[in-house]
Amino acid sequence: MLRVGVLISGGGTNLQALIDSIEKGELQNVAIEVVISSKKDAYGLERARNHGIKAVEIIKKDYSDLGLFEEALLDELDRNKIDLVVLAGYLQIIPSKVVEAYKNRIINIHPSLIPAFCGNGFYGLKVHEEAIKRGVKITGATVHFVDEGTDTGPIIIQKAVELKDDDTPESLQLRVMEEAEWLILPEAVGLIAKDRIIVDNNVVRIKE
Ligand code: GRF
Repeated sequence: MLRVGVLISGGGTNLQALIDSIEKGELQNVAIEVVISSKKDAYGLERARNHGIKAVEIIKKDYSDLGLFEEALLDELDRNKIDLVVLAGYLQIIPSKVVEAYKNRIINIHPSLIPAFCGNGFYGLKVHEEAIKRGVKITGATVHFVDEGTDTGPIIIQKAVELKDDDTPESLQLRVMEEAEWLILPEAVGLIAKDRIIVDNNVVRIKE
């Protein structure tokens, strides 16, 4: 059984996609053991509680220094014996001690085709505003491993979504979620649960 910890900051629709995929039996041998929010009262916590999943808040400003915040995150992950950390709309920088402790065991869902529209400052609606402004014809979503950088780790899965002439950032965000994020995040977790992922010189290979 792959023991998963999901980190959120907001609505938790990607968390919900994982929960639904597990409950439908599509995503097997995976259990979400804890949901950790960086924001008070994030709706994603409600989603977790509605499905009997432990939901906690670990909020950086509640800690007098980064070291104590890092320790609180690591303690919660260790306490639940987490194998895989999933960042699903998590807006806090992952402290380096957590990245080191969970090397190639933290994945993130980003709402663009990395390396486009990613890096510092590119999150939420801003990603889609920039895609529309640039006039790209294709955007999409990426699941990647988390390393020391921002959106720079090895890419696991990507899925493309076409832009429409009348797209707004909001309509594009929703379509990227529906047609890409909510599909490839459970798929990536499933591949990891089946131990089908190899990282070779920063490039991900999927074992048959
Ligand atoms: C999503 O667009 C996701 O790609 C990004 O955060 C947004 C909110 O996700 N990382 P969620 O609804 O909280 O899962």
